Amino acid sequence: MGLGEAPPSGRKRSVSAIEVAPARYALYARYPELRTTLPRLALGTGPSPVVPLTRLSEKLGGPQLWVKNDGLYGSVYGGNKARKLELIIADALRRGRRTIITVGATGTNHGLATALYGREHGLRTVLLLVEQPVTDRVRRQVWRLHKAGAVLYRARTVPRAAALAPLVMVRHADWRRARLPYFLPAGGSSPLGAVGFVNAALELADQVAAGELPEPAHIFVALGSAGTAAGLLLGLRLAGLRSRLEPVLVSDLTPLSSKKVAGLANRTARLLRQRGAPLPRGEIAPEEVTVLSDWLGDGYGHSTLAGSRAEDLLRETEGLELEGVYTAKTMSALVGLVEAGELREGPVLYWHTYNALPLPFGTPTEEDLRRLPRAFRDLALRNMEMGDVGAGLALPRAPARGAPTSGGNLRVAATGGRRNRRTAREQGAAWTGGAPWRGT
Ligand SMILES: Cc1ncc(COP(=O)(O)O)c(C=O)c1O
Repeated sequence: MGLGEAPPSGRKRSVSAIEVAPARYALYARYPELRTTLPRLALGTGPSPVVPLTRLSEKLGGPQLWVKNDGLYGSVYGGNKARKLELIIADALRRGRRTIITVGATGTNHGLATALYGREHGLRTVLLLVEQPVTDRVRRQVWRLHKAGAVLYRARTVPRAAALAPLVMVRHADWRRARLPYFLPAGGSSPLGAVGFVNAALELADQVAAGELPEPAHIFVALGSAGTAAGLLLGLRLAGLRSRLEPVLVSDLTPLSSKKVAGLANRTARLLRQRGAPLPRGEIAPEEVTVLSDWLGDGYGHSTLAGSRAEDLLRETEGLELEGVYTAKTMSALVGLVEAGELREGPVLYWHTYNALPLPFGTPTEEDLRRLPRAFRDLALRNMEMGDVGAGLALPRAPARGAPTSGGNLRVAATGGRRNRRTAREQGAAWTGGAPWRGT
């Protein structure tokens, strides 16, 4: 960690502490003026590792494949969210806000990251949650959101969440200080959040320049609320990399298109210019990016056969754990296009966006779920006997009286080898292969 860089976690920091510019942040190295005009609160330490996927490349007989593992970016929760929140939490603190209100689906990774990192910095998180198919992962996530101290509202649909948002803003206003909560769009995909991925692309360019990996011809990344893809699109262009971004559509909760990705990239560029960064003139045209929309299946949160196959393939070849909502679908696009012979030209980089750090709070028992607030208790217990996909009871019963409350007793009741491996991951063994996936 460089001189003056805020430590990644642990203590609450004052606003003045975040104005001390970190020494190692690619965006600041490139545009030093942003150190003071666009403060960042370090939640992770870059660069995230880049690793060749040699066994997968061999198995597919395709081009050279690589991964950039943002799953390890963060301190208490990894993945793409920490990169956005570094800018967003700094902004909320600078504006004197004490509450962040944001939107997500019931299994939201963004909501959990916001609640965990917000809490570390004295911010309360209020979440408006819309429905998604209830899987074991979703049940556990709702419980984690609750444990992380988030205030939860169940809005069911996106239009309802939009209608509810102003009421919730007023309800959680800080009347004594005459301040509304900080409103953060779904997925943290404001221009400020996208700046985190402008930095990430510059970070990748530094890794290419240092010879850690060859310049990718293609970069595959999940497209959920567009902040990650938009930031990368802009950052790749600023870095002078010729890599073609391949955003894989994983959500139909709100309409997403190349126009939307390019639009957010342009708004992000405007923000950087406003804050004093001398960005070249010109706009990114929607034609410069093509959204890959054939891998979504029945919709957000619905698993696909191609996704499950990609999950198995990555686990077997590389020991890399994917999840069904974002990363498996993204990888299914990459694998599908390699197999169809449409990606002969490499190298191809897969940008991993899901947490690979030990998950907080362990695994809930059925009793734990029964103690959730009523609206979420009903949701978490729904179809529980059917497990994820009718695969048997998925969650453990409460430990017997007197039994230890952590460790083996709280493991998910296994219904098969695959579920066993998932359990290990949920308990912290996020990466199981020999590759240097795990953080130190
Ligand atoms: C694991 C994971 N990957 C990818 C994404 C998509 O990123 P974005 O919303 O910036 O498009 C999300 C968003 O929630 C996510 O949780």
